Amino acid sequence: MKGIVLAGGLGTRLMPLTKVTNKHLLPVYNRPMIYFPIETMVEAGIRDILVVTGGSNAGDFLRLLGNGKQFGLSHLNYTYQEGEGGIAEALSLAHDFAENDRIIVILGDNIIGGSIGKAVRAFEEQPSGAKIFLKRVPDAHRFGVASIQGDRVVAIEEKPPNPKSDLAVVGIYMYDSSVFDIITTLKPSQRGELEITDVNNRYIETGTMTFDVLDCWWTDAGTSFDSLLRASNMVASWVKEGHIRA
Ligand code: DAU
Repeated sequence: MKGIVLAGGLGTRLMPLTKVTNKHLLPVYNRPMIYFPIETMVEAGIRDILVVTGGSNAGDFLRLLGNGKQFGLSHLNYTYQEGEGGIAEALSLAHDFAENDRIIVILGDNIIGGSIGKAVRAFEEQPSGAKIFLKRVPDAHRFGVASIQGDRVVAIEEKPPNPKSDLAVVGIYMYDSSVFDIITTLKPSQRGELEITDVNNRYIETGTMTFDVLDCWWTDAGTSFDSLLRASNMVASWVKEGHIRA
């Protein structure tokens, strides 16, 4: 399985912090934000990783991450997204890299406080389709929100004003190789983006979407000043309690 970290987009919600740098290079306590999704993948056994970036500071990713030696990798792959056409558009740039293999995608601003290794192994055993993670949150309207019946996800709504559940869709997705065909059929949403929620709903329609509910801590660090601060405070406590290396 190959890994893709999506770190494109313009990060306008964090202006002026993102005026001269990319959101994913901002500090979250003692590390640049982009370290977290890469460390999550490496811990889960993923070794072949592509970073999708964009904007005016793409060269800084190379200077920061190099060939991934600090994560125990022998190389890292990079590609560049022009503009900000959405998460699914950024993912489409990984088509050649994926070479029909299965993929795991992590949004560059998502930080989780646990391992996804078990779910990755389970997805490798799944005959086809996709797998997502859900997390119970008090503010579901900020996220993709899943409706479930029994052990099935029946629909996902993107940032609904009146969420039907408290189950947010985490920015970590696993897909089989049909994901790239699905993306070519998408139309831009009202906000002018190719939405990852539309991709996930296609898998739901074909009955091939599975999910795990995360019981560990999770946040998207890059959507507001408060989320960035919350993430920094959480990581600081993990470091002080010895859960992750300083
Ligand atoms: O954090 C989880 C949420 O992420 C999900 O619950 C939502 O369903 C999903 O749509 C997404 O929502 P956001 O509105 O928070 O996504 P955002 O635009 O902040 O983008 C998240 C990351 O995706 C960002 O850190 C970089 C990457 N991205 C985003 C866009 C729009 C790209 O690489 N290229 C893009 O064009």
